[in-house]
Amino acid sequence: MSGFVEKPEPPQVPGLVHLHTGKVRDLYRNETGDLVMVATDRLSAYDWVLPSLIPDKGRVLTQLSLWWFDQLQDLIPNHVLSAADEDLPESAPADWAGRTLICKSLDMVPVEAVARGYLTGSGLVEYNESRTVCGLALPEGLEDGSELPAPIFTPATKAAVGEHDENVSYEEVARQVGADTAAQLRQATLAVYSRARDIARERGIILADTKFEFGFDRAPDGTSTLILADEVLTPDSSRFWPADQWQPGRAQPSYDKQFVRDWLTSPASGWDRKSETPPPALPEEVVAATRAKYIEAYELLTGQSWS
Ligand SMILES: Nc1ncnc2c1ncn2[C@@H]1O[C@H](COP(=O)(O)OP(=O)(O)O)[C@@H](O)[C@H]1O
Ligand SMILES: [Mg+2]
Repeated sequence: MSGFVEKPEPPQVPGLVHLHTGKVRDLYRNETGDLVMVATDRLSAYDWVLPSLIPDKGRVLTQLSLWWFDQLQDLIPNHVLSAADEDLPESAPADWAGRTLICKSLDMVPVEAVARGYLTGSGLVEYNESRTVCGLALPEGLEDGSELPAPIFTPATKAAVGEHDENVSYEEVARQVGADTAAQLRQATLAVYSRARDIARERGIILADTKFEFGFDRAPDGTSTLILADEVLTPDSSRFWPADQWQPGRAQPSYDKQFVRDWLTSPASGWDRKSETPPPALPEEVVAATRAKYIEAYELLTGQSWS
């Protein structure tokens, strides 16, 4: 069992049609047909959307994504039409300020486009069994946190809320979306990862891996353009490691939900990850420490202070 511990009630806003409640984002369509994407303060861990909120998390995700979209503009177009709160309906909740983007509604490619420059997580599990990741052969002797000889494209199929994404081979992606689209996905994923890795590295952060979602903008004349969508290069979609503490051979400290995972799997939480029971609410200090980590990542990457 997994999913939402408490099913959220997305606010109803006149002029907007509610489309979807994701793990973190609520999606609406406005009267012009564009997408309104609201990043909430929800947080997921171990395939559960937790009953606790992390104050400001959604704003950090939205502002960090916007900053990255800017850094990447010359490489690939993105789906953002407006980040201005004035462009929202007047009756939108005040709390949506700073966390809401109006985006071009795209024909999404149903693939989690993952790039990895370092070995960890599900990549490490597969490597330990077969010396491959998503079927790609890797050299002997790599360990948890090792840098790969070159970044690799390791796609996954997108799972519903509460389900695991599943790593798939490049060939499987090509079968599902076509050879042309698969090639475009791989090229774009690796180009964007490499740019972002270099930018992060200058700021003392290792971008170990990250997940993108792309969509097609289909023009009336029949042409299709691949667009970078969703959120980009946030602590929710990426593993960021402090470069000065990087030490292959062990789990790396990271700028994300580490406090949450550590607490949930500690005796203090009283929760058994393998059980069917939903995880408990987080103690105040875990919420505060997690909020601080998200803000720290934002400040280090952008060089701007949060408040
Ligand atoms: N430009 C876009 N057009 C259509 N759908 C999009 C666009 N950008 C993001 N999405 C979708 O919006 C949802 C974002 O919500 P999120 O909370 O991240 O959901 P999930 O639980 O699926 O990760 C995802 O399903 C994503 O595929
Ligand atoms: Mg998502």
